[in-house]
Amino acid sequence: MIIQPRTRGFICLTAHPEGAAENIKNQIEYVKSKGEIKNGPKKVLVIGASTGFGIASRISAAFGSGAATIGVFFEKPASEGKLGTAGWYNSAAFEKEAHSAGLYAKSINGDAFSDEIKEQTIALIKKDLGQVDLVIYSLASPRRTHPKTGVQYSSVLKPIDQPFTNKTVDFHSGVVSDISIQPIESEDDIKNTVAVMGGEDWKFWIEDLKAAGVLAEGVKTVAYSYIGPELTYPIYRNGTIGRAKDDLEGTVPAINDILKDLHGISYVSVNKALVTQSSSAIPVVPLYISLLYKVMKEKGIHEGTIEQMQRLFAERLYVDGDVPLDEKGRIRVDDLEMRADVQEEVSKLWDQATTENLEEISDIAGYRDDFFQLFGFNFDSIDYNKDTSELVQVPSLAE
Ligand code: NAI
Repeated sequence: MIIQPRTRGFICLTAHPEGAAENIKNQIEYVKSKGEIKNGPKKVLVIGASTGFGIASRISAAFGSGAATIGVFFEKPASEGKLGTAGWYNSAAFEKEAHSAGLYAKSINGDAFSDEIKEQTIALIKKDLGQVDLVIYSLASPRRTHPKTGVQYSSVLKPIDQPFTNKTVDFHSGVVSDISIQPIESEDDIKNTVAVMGGEDWKFWIEDLKAAGVLAEGVKTVAYSYIGPELTYPIYRNGTIGRAKDDLEGTVPAINDILKDLHGISYVSVNKALVTQSSSAIPVVPLYISLLYKVMKEKGIHEGTIEQMQRLFAERLYVDGDVPLDEKGRIRVDDLEMRADVQEEVSKLWDQATTENLEEISDIAGYRDDFFQLFGFNFDSIDYNKDTSELVQVPSLAE
């Protein structure tokens, strides 16, 4: 099959297996180039393991500290004549690389919000690993079916008190325009978004894993959050998704309580804004990211998901002594993004940004490149006119 990018808005409908493999290899090379993560994790469960921060976490654990990994994700498998999703091909490539490096790696494809997938994961840990010493929670989803009530919740990306008008960009065309987003219609919008992206499911996972005895003494668990600059507050941190992040961060004490007798601990890590399938869906954010990339690249402090996760492991989670935390008890790897000089420059560029000057003052080209690379496109080493087999399978998918 000839596999070319086919997009609809911020979604790419196709994914290239060989390009995905290239993406994974590059991330592995980066982690290896940074050397061993001392006292790093050995047996790791990654929930949301196939794309974005999740796959980068899995790679950091496996290739940074030789960890055995179980990855849970929700991806469309490849079948005859039908492409799999990017996360499917990423996971296939990751497992192949891990296995040839002699590392244990198995995956579970299904709805992580369900009790059934939690049970299946626990059974696999019991059978193969006994216990895990790190649980990464990196789900990003637009909806969740509640496992106890069967109610389906859909998240929304809306401001809360008033309409929000600001600039946004169509990153394909480079057209900068104003967008007005209406605020929530009722408190239900907040409730639904919290139900999908808040902390309840993370807590359910930890409760179930603990009850099954599959968490090791001293276990750590980490979920990911975002804060960002004031200009995105109305749509992000002070919007419906921000409420969900408040809820996620607010779950830390309850999870610590569950882990107390194991001397375990939970953290939220606030990560940098990066191009992922999830962030490209948020209005205003892609323009911010393209300006941020420009400023951070010029200063030589740009990081992608793999640089962020390798640093999270090596310089935060597994340092000698105390894990460095902010005043609210959170890990911060968004420190470089939030630096005053970076934010001042982004803010100046934000005021200037128009369709006419965008290519020049922003790194919209880098944004596009990252976006297409998420789906295995835009790699110089791949010939996209070559016939490529779509039928690439994840080798150790648990049934
Ligand atoms: P992503 O869209 O790249 O990855 C989401 C992962 O969740 C994928 O592995 C997907 O298969 C999995 N998933 C989704 N629904 C599932 C389900 N029902 N069952 C099993 N797996 C499911 O997202 P990204 O951006 O890596 O986000 C991960 C976390 O990082 C989120 O909490 C997000 O808010 C946070 N974050 C993202 C930032 C960004 O700029 N992208 C910045 C800071 C935090």
